[in-house]
Amino acid sequence: MAVAALQGVSLTIARGDYVAIVGPSGSGKSTLMHLLGGLDRPTSGRLVIDGRDVTTLSPLEMAALRNDTIGFVFQDFHLLPRTTAVENVAMPLAYRGMGGRARRELAAEMLSRVGLGHRLAHRPNQLSGGERQRVAIARALVTGPAVLLADEPTGNLDSVTGQSVLALLEELNAASGVAVVVVTHDLEVAARARRQIVMRDGVIVPDQPGVTGAQPAPEIVDVAPSAEPRFASGSGPGHPSGGSGGAAGAAGRLPRQPLDAPGDLR
Ligand SMILES: Nc1ncnc2c1ncn2[C@@H]1O[C@H](COP(=O)(O)OP(=O)(O)O)[C@@H](O)[C@H]1O
Ligand SMILES: [Mg+2]
Repeated sequence: MAVAALQGVSLTIARGDYVAIVGPSGSGKSTLMHLLGGLDRPTSGRLVIDGRDVTTLSPLEMAALRNDTIGFVFQDFHLLPRTTAVENVAMPLAYRGMGGRARRELAAEMLSRVGLGHRLAHRPNQLSGGERQRVAIARALVTGPAVLLADEPTGNLDSVTGQSVLALLEELNAASGVAVVVVTHDLEVAARARRQIVMRDGVIVPDQPGVTGAQPAPEIVDVAPSAEPRFASGSGPGHPSGGSGGAAGAAGRLPRQPLDAPGDLR
């Protein structure tokens, strides 16, 4: 039986945005992030990335769109363990057919940009947690994506290191205009973002400042249920009131099985 992890969720990420998705464990934050990043597809509803409705794309086209548009950062870094920092960062460029030398040059430049120009040949186990997350951020940004999706990026870091990683994300957002989406259960982390999306039981909690506010720029990612008003929890047809484990048939829901399938960028 499918678990409805998200229901009636409607969200637009604009270019240059800095958004926090916040909520308790199990509220659907990671599911929403996977959806925004095109790692999962909605079972119903709409997902538009960079103007393209992803439901029309083949898996290969989807992978190419992700590689062009989206960078991912995870709580546990997801670096290749026996691979140097520069090779880790160069990896997404290989999918584009870029030559080895050009890849390494660009990767080294990106590592300098995140303060790791002196750690190019270090492997992950020779780096601190904060340094590993900087490598992961460099890898996410080396392709010049429009949006960086970070799932609990400070979750494995002490608070001082976590602050400096957030400061780096903010600096990159301001300097390069990459939209940043930070998924977190930490209200202090969320408070730093320009707007907060609050989740509970698979729905966005309405009446949050900024959620319904005007978009500052053209959208980069847009997810919406098919024939639903913006916040449909408990009101629309087929929506069980309160809770994520209801009957089938509601718009915008997503079964969880695909989450464990390895994505090519993870
Ligand atoms: N692989 C899975 N199969 C079935 N249900 C899952 C799976 N992963 C998560 N869930 C459920 O989906 C809901 C949302 O999970 P998730 O998006 O990971 O929440 P969060 O990131 O906010 O902690 C939770 O109820 C969780 O138990
Ligand atoms: Mg999560």
